[in-house]
Amino acid sequence: MSAADLIRTRRSVRTFDGNGLPDEMLEMIREYAETVTNPYGIRTAFTFLSSKEQPLKVPVITGTDMFIAGTVRRVSHAEEAFGYAFEKILLYAWSLGVGSTWIAGTMDRAAFEQAIGLEEGEAMPCISPLGMPAARMSFRETMMRKGVGADKRLASDKLFFEDIYGSPLKTDDPALKEALEMVRLAPSAVNKQPWRAVVRDGRVHFYESPSRGYRSEDGWDLQKIDMGIALCHFEMAAQEAGLQTSFELEEPDIEVPAGIEYIASFVLHKQ
Ligand SMILES: Cc1cc2nc3c(=O)[nH]c(=O)nc-3n(C[C@H](O)[C@H](O)[C@H](O)COP(=O)(O)O)c2cc1C
Repeated sequence: MSAADLIRTRRSVRTFDGNGLPDEMLEMIREYAETVTNPYGIRTAFTFLSSKEQPLKVPVITGTDMFIAGTVRRVSHAEEAFGYAFEKILLYAWSLGVGSTWIAGTMDRAAFEQAIGLEEGEAMPCISPLGMPAARMSFRETMMRKGVGADKRLASDKLFFEDIYGSPLKTDDPALKEALEMVRLAPSAVNKQPWRAVVRDGRVHFYESPSRGYRSEDGWDLQKIDMGIALCHFEMAAQEAGLQTSFELEEPDIEVPAGIEYIASFVLHKQ
């Protein structure tokens, strides 16, 4: 499957078939996770855990015992780096037919942190179950999806702009439109979709439009994980659509409304 097909067909899977994750798939995901990098060059690490061997509780998840937990050092841009890397792994898993759900909140966090031996100065931003999706969702999963409007996404004219923040994107470049559509479809915490982008002078500048209540007092920002997912989708889809991109961290001189925060840019190279 292409990256675009993976992104289009992916959904959070919370109800699994009860047969466990086949060993060969676990091995493939484990090997892939070892190779994953991110544009920030920040180290991430991933641990695979079974709730048969450890007392792990994730209330919304049924039908699998296998989980992946990720860690990153608490440095500047850790959230985006983590979001980018973990999404690569979960999309790879989906290419094998293995379902997952980003989980930052609905878990016994202390049990996971203890099971992976989380160290001082490190964060474990999210975990995910891994397994084969069940044919039908549990009642609880169906209700949860309804609660956050999980099947809906904001329209592209609310998200993507040209030259000026808020001014509609007029590009007719199909590759760029496709790459931005893959950002639009990305998963995000409570489906808040904080990503915004301004296309200007051969660059795509990404911004975060934060919602209330996702930043902790120590500055940790859950929605920057969503931003890392958006960067991952954009880069994968852009390259697949034939655009050559490079990552850049240089805030452009674009006026943005109060509260909107610059995240990162991709340079679009002429071919
Ligand atoms: C950073 C992050 C944290 C999330 N945390 C949770 C969580 O704690 N529990 C949960 O059930 N879903 C969680 N989700 C899944 C979102 O609710 C889900 O991606 C969104 O509703 C869109 O649905 P979809 O993934 O099926 O497209 C999280 C997603 C992200 C990206």
